[in-house]
Amino acid sequence: MNGQFEPGARLPSTRTLAGSLGISRSTVVEAFDQLAAEGFIERRTGSGTYVSPQLSGLGAGGRAERPPSADPRRRPARRMRLASAAPTSLSETFAGRPMAFTPCEPDVELFPHRLWARMLARHARAPKSWSASPDPAGLLELRQALAAHLTLSRGVTADPDRIIVVSGARQAIFLCAHALLDPGDDVWCEDPGYPEARTALAFAGANVVPVPIDDGGIDVNAAERLAPRARAAYVMPSHQLPTGIVMRLRRRLQLLDWAARNDAWILEDDYDSEFCYDNRPLTALQGLDDRQSVVYIGTLNKITYPGLRLGYVVAPAAIADALASAAVTMSLSVPLAVQAAAADFISEGHLAQHITRMRGVYGERQRLLIDELDRQIGDAIRPEPISVGMHVLAALHGISAQEIAARGVARGLDLRPLSGYAETSVPGNAIVLGYTHLSQERIRSAVRVLAQTLADAHTAASQRPST
Ligand SMILES: Cc1ncc(COP(=O)(O)O)c(C=O)c1O
Repeated sequence: MNGQFEPGARLPSTRTLAGSLGISRSTVVEAFDQLAAEGFIERRTGSGTYVSPQLSGLGAGGRAERPPSADPRRRPARRMRLASAAPTSLSETFAGRPMAFTPCEPDVELFPHRLWARMLARHARAPKSWSASPDPAGLLELRQALAAHLTLSRGVTADPDRIIVVSGARQAIFLCAHALLDPGDDVWCEDPGYPEARTALAFAGANVVPVPIDDGGIDVNAAERLAPRARAAYVMPSHQLPTGIVMRLRRRLQLLDWAARNDAWILEDDYDSEFCYDNRPLTALQGLDDRQSVVYIGTLNKITYPGLRLGYVVAPAAIADALASAAVTMSLSVPLAVQAAAADFISEGHLAQHITRMRGVYGERQRLLIDELDRQIGDAIRPEPISVGMHVLAALHGISAQEIAARGVARGLDLRPLSGYAETSVPGNAIVLGYTHLSQERIRSAVRVLAQTLADAHTAASQRPST
């Protein structure tokens, strides 16, 4: 197929091939039989074996004629514009354990896996998990447990009938985009913001409108000028990724007012605000919404472990059924045994206990990270302590964030420049540092490697001829 043998070309004999490849002749005969059966080669008695002349013009042999730009990676994928702030490819990012400083990674070692496995096993053995045709919105017991948990912990107005269980926040965004928007609808997105959400929205056909943010959150006035007829806004009011900004109350009310006046939806992504280190986080925007505009999106994948794949949507009552049936159409469901085990895990208090424990651990890790950056690096890096969430933002002085990110990859550091989260804005020179999955020892050693990386970059910069 790659044109190495032209159609009509004679192939070496099975004996010659076996000799030159150092394999048994029967293996070559078998391969030739298979190729002949599939029509790639022809045997001519007394003459030999030939590449089938009929393949001419059908791709075989013709590949080389393609212009060099026919690189499959450059084919325009319909709607799908893969966006990520990671400096590495997807497969590198997900190979093995997360790299140092990858944002939003929980410490999976500290999750009570034994207890979880017992709960899972209990439900995996129960016939109810095998045979029931699943409720489109998710297992009732889980929706009840989630409703109680969200009301208490996030001030969300949640009754089980308005909850739809999905595999995570990204799937929830994707589901909402498909079910609530028409192709071409404008959607406001904070800029800089979460690239994967923009991808999910665009993949569903929405037109992503990047909107600037300031220290109060999304700039609603600017958004109204940019896309006055937007049908939705995707926001992270409790802890904006990547800036860490918490949306101020006035801005929350302004956004809610805009949505109600324009019959628009607010997709509230509340992905990591359980981890608050000072006092209670601001309650969810959804709790302030008395006009049913907010679709609240949450995930257990950051609290527990990323492989769990369990998240949820709390929808306005009027659209809960529509979202559930869209989820059925898209066949979005989480195995019943996992849902049942999660219901027990939440209602027996283990989730709340785990959150409390991790809050203590992550708070200490953030303090250690900031101390170590100061002690080992000093003025070249200035982290902003953040009272919520799983990452800090650190401003760099003297070296560009992109250069440090590129140098970091080779040393096992996943340093994400702030600019990687931006669409049209020009954010400052800073990197996002995830620390929650790093033990204290790993934090110290990762900062040591970062210090070395920065020192090397400074040395290289000082040796560059000035222009
Ligand atoms: C802002 C934001 N939302 C959602 C998610 C994804 O959550 P899930 O794994 O449940 O899809 C992430 C993941 O890092 C995130 O940063």
